[in-house]
Amino acid sequence: MTQSSTSALHTSTLTSLPLLARGKVRDNYAVGTDRILMVASDRLSAFDVIMGEPIPGKGELLTKMALFWFDKLGHICPNHLTGDDPESVVSPAEAAQIRGRSMLVQRLQPIPVEAVVRGYLAGSGWKEYQASQSVCGVPLPAGLTNAAKLPEPIYTPAAKAAAGEHDENISFERTVEMIGPELAAKIRDLSIAIYKAAAEIALTKGMIIADTKFEFGLAPDGTLVLMDEVLTPDSSRYWPVEGYAEALAKGENPPSYDKQFVRDWLEQAQVNGKPWDKTPPSPRLPQAVIEKTAAKYREALERLTG
Ligand SMILES: Nc1ncnc2c1ncn2[C@@H]1O[C@H](COP(=O)(O)OP(=O)(O)OP(=O)(O)O)[C@@H](O)[C@H]1O
Ligand SMILES: [Mg+2]
Repeated sequence: MTQSSTSALHTSTLTSLPLLARGKVRDNYAVGTDRILMVASDRLSAFDVIMGEPIPGKGELLTKMALFWFDKLGHICPNHLTGDDPESVVSPAEAAQIRGRSMLVQRLQPIPVEAVVRGYLAGSGWKEYQASQSVCGVPLPAGLTNAAKLPEPIYTPAAKAAAGEHDENISFERTVEMIGPELAAKIRDLSIAIYKAAAEIALTKGMIIADTKFEFGLAPDGTLVLMDEVLTPDSSRYWPVEGYAEALAKGENPPSYDKQFVRDWLEQAQVNGKPWDKTPPSPRLPQAVIEKTAAKYREALERLTG
């Protein structure tokens, strides 16, 4: 199948570079020994299952958003961008396939901690708070409601799961055991600082970043570097400010730019006449769901950068 930058790309098929790994969304290719070409496909994963149908434009929108944030946050923490042109490392015939959806990055040693920061009570955090008045072991004040802003952003790390598995919430102490006290504290402090800076910028665009997840890696000289995607709707929960106050007052989930729309559809979808059990194969996404999802991603980027 031929691909151009205008058609949806479910799976990249570069032959000019060796494939390192396919993640749920990105295909990573080795560029020599020290760089990676990360190609953001249009794949959508929900409940950690990859959907069969691509979302047109998604990979490009995610890439644009990550680049926007790397640019804004460079003063807080170094990032993995090399500044080199992704199209310079593939054959001319394959340039169209990766155009606009790729980052040429420094190859890092990934740290197996997902650095989650939450500024608001949402999703699984809200469920946990109701049961224990804490989130991932972090105690919180009484009386918070669904979608409430936390007094201070909290760091609730997770262990990066193997392919097909779900990430597992872990305590800060566990990250200390895994990677040592200095690195664990540095990742926590940087993550909170990056979240705060980003949340402030997003608010000026009428967007709340309820929570987000960062990934870090180590450069050969030991420098801690922000990697992967940053602050995309796939890694973060964005709420438009205008729906927030009303949702908060009603105790409802604010409308969001993340995958909630498609998740809601999947919750009622059937496979072979039975409710989908959230294992592959996934239900076939109807065209209307694909389009609505694509529109959400577009809207998020336009708001942020427009
Ligand atoms: N600079 C980097 N150096 C090395 N690995 C990186 C770098 N940036 C991102 N990665 C890794 O590339 C992958 C990105 O692909 P993607 O986000 O699709 O994967 P995922 O589904 O989230 O995770 P998994 O690899 O577990 O399937 C992640 O595994 C991420 O940790
Ligand atoms: Mg990822």
